[in-house]
Amino acid sequence: MEIDIQLIPTPPRSNSLFNRTVVVIDVLRATSVMVHAMLQGALEIIPVASVDEAFQIAKDFPRSSILLGGERESRKVQGFDLGNSPKEYVAERVKGKKLILTTTNGTKAFYLVSSGKEILAGSFFNIGAIAQICIELGRNLLIFSSGDEGSFSLEDSICGGMLIELIKQKARKPISLTDASYNAQVLYQRFKDNLLGAFHLSHHGKELIKHGFGDDLVYCAQIDITDIVPEFKAGVIRVK
Ligand code: MLT
Repeated sequence: MEIDIQLIPTPPRSNSLFNRTVVVIDVLRATSVMVHAMLQGALEIIPVASVDEAFQIAKDFPRSSILLGGERESRKVQGFDLGNSPKEYVAERVKGKKLILTTTNGTKAFYLVSSGKEILAGSFFNIGAIAQICIELGRNLLIFSSGDEGSFSLEDSICGGMLIELIKQKARKPISLTDASYNAQVLYQRFKDNLLGAFHLSHHGKELIKHGFGDDLVYCAQIDITDIVPEFKAGVIRVK
């Protein structure tokens, strides 16, 4: 089994995802929101690239069955029900609902890797369960960091490094790593005792603090709060 990690969110080379499991990571905050929403009983999530698309898709469903969520420049979009803080996605709001979600980086990333065999949403919230399922599937793996508006993101790379570390510790068969994977593993080793410190150093972490979302950094640093593994298939994310 080979583990590669893409540290910058450019479209992967054509055919490179053939028969590969892909784990999309956007710790701050899109995949953390997805995992949290599913944990709180959301029915499914439709990730979309643009705000216009979100409003358009919403018209296809009874208004009471859906919630519009996400952010632009970290803030809730005008006319949306929810922003992009995981803590907003609680059972009282999301249970039994279909979420239409659009974020700057995370929701787009799923479409960049849509040719993967399985496409899973990972965050620190479900990192152990993601490692376990990747081991069970036993395929070559691409970890895809959603990044920060096309650039490298410290928190996604550290989360990817943790996933690599867990798979290496638990897998019963040999694991080979690419140079990028070694890089992420070293980064995780450097910050594993201080994830919050890393979030504070990161560009996106600083932006969230500036916009008043500092609490989300603390919340998103929680490890293994659930075993839920969201899977993206045919444009929809559901619990695998
Ligand atoms: C994204 O997908 O770009 C992020 O989750 C942004 C954010 O939550 O601020």
